[in-house]
Amino acid sequence: MASEITYAEVKFKNASPAAVVEVPPETKKHEHHPQKYPSWLPWLISLLLLLLCIALVIALFVVPFSHSSDQPTALQLKFREWWCISAEPQGKERGWVCCPNGWIHFEKSCYYISGDMMPSAESERNCSGMGSYLVVINSEAEQTFLSKKLQQYSKGENYYIGLSAQQVGQWHWVDQTPYNETAAFWREYEPSDTADEQCVVIHKNSGLRDNWNDVKCGKHNRICEAAVVTV
Ligand SMILES: *[C@@H]1O[C@H](CO)[C@@H](O)[C@H](O)[C@H]1NC(C)=O
Ligand SMILES: *[C@@H]1O[C@H](CO)[C@@H](O)[C@H](O)[C@H]1NC(C)=O
Repeated sequence: MASEITYAEVKFKNASPAAVVEVPPETKKHEHHPQKYPSWLPWLISLLLLLLCIALVIALFVVPFSHSSDQPTALQLKFREWWCISAEPQGKERGWVCCPNGWIHFEKSCYYISGDMMPSAESERNCSGMGSYLVVINSEAEQTFLSKKLQQYSKGENYYIGLSAQQVGQWHWVDQTPYNETAAFWREYEPSDTADEQCVVIHKNSGLRDNWNDVKCGKHNRICEAAVVTV
C-alpha cells in the first residue's frame, strides 16, 4: 500500500504542474489579446496539409499502381485464347509476349493472315472488328517475314496492307505512319499510279522483298496487325 501511494504522488507532481501552469495562460492569451489571425486559420492550414498528404499518397502509390495494371487493349478484349512465348524481361517490359490463337508473332506485333477475301473497306472493318488494323510495314525485316509466312502457309494470291491513296500517288498508311519512299517495297514497274488503283496488296508470288502492287479495291485477302500483349 505504501509504495502505491508514493507512486501516485510522483505522478501527480510531475504531470499536474505542467497542466496547470502552461495550458491556462495560453488559452487566456488568445481570449484577451487581439487576435493576429482568425481562429479558423489553423484549421484551414491543417485541412490543406491533410489534402496535400492525400494528394501525395495518390501521386506516389495509386497512380503508378494503376499504370502497372494496364487497360486491356482492343485486341485483348476480342480474344479469349492466346499463345505466349517467354521473353527476356527488359526494364518495365514483362516476361511473356502473347498473340491470339491463330495469329503469328514478329517483334512487337501479332498478325492475322486471312484465308478469305473481302473488298478493301470490309477488310479494314474486319481488322478493326478484331482490335487490329490492316498491316503497316515499317521495315524490310517485317516485309520479308510476312512474305515468307504467306509463301509457307497461305493459299491466297494478293493480301491487303494498310496503304492506300485518296489521290493518285499520295500514299497513306492507315495508322498515320508517314509514307517513306525508301522503306516501300513496290514490285518492279509498280505503283502504276492510276486513279482506279487506290489500294495496295502484297503479291505473294513476286518474291520476298519487292512485291507490293497497287490495285483496284476489289476482293482480296488481308493481313491484320496489332501490338503484342505482354504479361
Ligand atoms: C473477320 O473475318 C474472319 C474470317 O472471315 C471471321 O472469322 C471474323 O469473325 C471476322 N471478324 C470480324 C470482327 O468481322
Ligand atoms: C526511311 O526508311 C529508311 C530505310 O528504312 C530509313 O533509313 C530512314 O530513316 C527512313 N526515313 C524516315 C524519315 O523515316
